[in-house]
Amino acid sequence: MKIVGGPSSEELAKKISELLNVPLVSTRTKRFPDGEFYFKFEEKISGEDLLIVQSLYPPQDVHALELFLILHTARDLGAESISVFIPYLAYSRQDRRYLEGECLSSGMIAEVLEKLGVNALYTVDVHNRRVLEMYRIPAYNLTASRELAKYFAVKDLTNPIVISPDDEKDAIERAKNAAKTLNADYDFLEKQRDRYTGEIVTYEKHIDVEGRDAVIIDDIISTGKTAANAVKILKKHGARRVFVGASHALLVGEAARLLNEAGVEEIAGTDSVMNKYAKVSVAPILVKKLKETQIL
Ligand code: R5P
Repeated sequence: MKIVGGPSSEELAKKISELLNVPLVSTRTKRFPDGEFYFKFEEKISGEDLLIVQSLYPPQDVHALELFLILHTARDLGAESISVFIPYLAYSRQDRRYLEGECLSSGMIAEVLEKLGVNALYTVDVHNRRVLEMYRIPAYNLTASRELAKYFAVKDLTNPIVISPDDEKDAIERAKNAAKTLNADYDFLEKQRDRYTGEIVTYEKHIDVEGRDAVIIDDIISTGKTAANAVKILKKHGARRVFVGASHALLVGEAARLLNEAGVEEIAGTDSVMNKYAKVSVAPILVKKLKETQIL
C-alpha cells in the first residue's frame, strides 16, 4: 500500500505513512492563474493499492474537487485499488431531504466517490451514520471521542463529567465513549434547531456539575452555537471548568468568540480540520481500523 496526501491533509497523510511504515506517493499540485487545480503523480502508481487522504473541511467545495481530480487520475493511471480516508465528510448534515425539493447532498458525494472508483471509505464521526448506508462500497465510521478524552485526561480534572450537547443517539454514544476513557459520568442536553433560520435552542436541565470539570464532546463545531449554549448552561449550574472537544472543529465565523464569551476553558479538535484547534490526531484510529480490516 502507498499513501497519497491531498492538499487539505498533507500532514495527516505523512503521520499515517510513518505509523504504517509505508511510503508516501510523491505528487505535484499547483493552481493555474485562473484558480483551477493542477494535480500530477510524480511516480508510477499503476498496479498500486492507494490510500488517499483528503479531509473536506472548509472550503469544502475546493477540497472536494481536489479529491475528485486526484481520484480520477488514480483510476485513470491504473491504481489496483483505491481507499479514501476523509476524516471530515462534508455534506453529511444533508443526510435526508428535510424540506421538499432539497438536494440530498450526502447521496451525491457517495455517488461521485463510487463512480470515481473508490473501493473503501474511512471517515471519522460522520454526522449521521445513515449517510454511510448510501454507499455500496465498504464505508467505515471511526470515532475520535476516546482520543479527545485522552487529551483532556491530563488536565488534572476535578470529578469530571462528560456532556453531549444534544440527545441524538450517536452524540450520546460519543459522550459515553469519552466518559469511559475518563472513568467519568456522562449526561446529555436536549436541543432543537430551526430548519429555516438555523437558530438553536438548548433546554436547561439539572445536571450535577457543581464544582466539577465538564467536558463537552461533539462531532462538529460549526457556528459554535450548540457548544456555546451547553457551556453557558453548565457554567450557570456551577461547573468549575468547561472544556469542549470536537472531532471536527470547523469554528466558522464568530464561533470562537461565542465560545469564549460563554466561558469555555479550552477547545480541542483533531487534524481532521487543519487549524489551531487541531490538537489530537486521527491517524492512530485509522491505522487501528486498517489493521482490523486487514487491508494492510
Ligand atoms: C448537531 O446535530 C451536531 O452534532 C453539532 O452539534 C452541530 O452540527 C454543531 O453546529 P453548530 O456549531 O453550528 O451549533
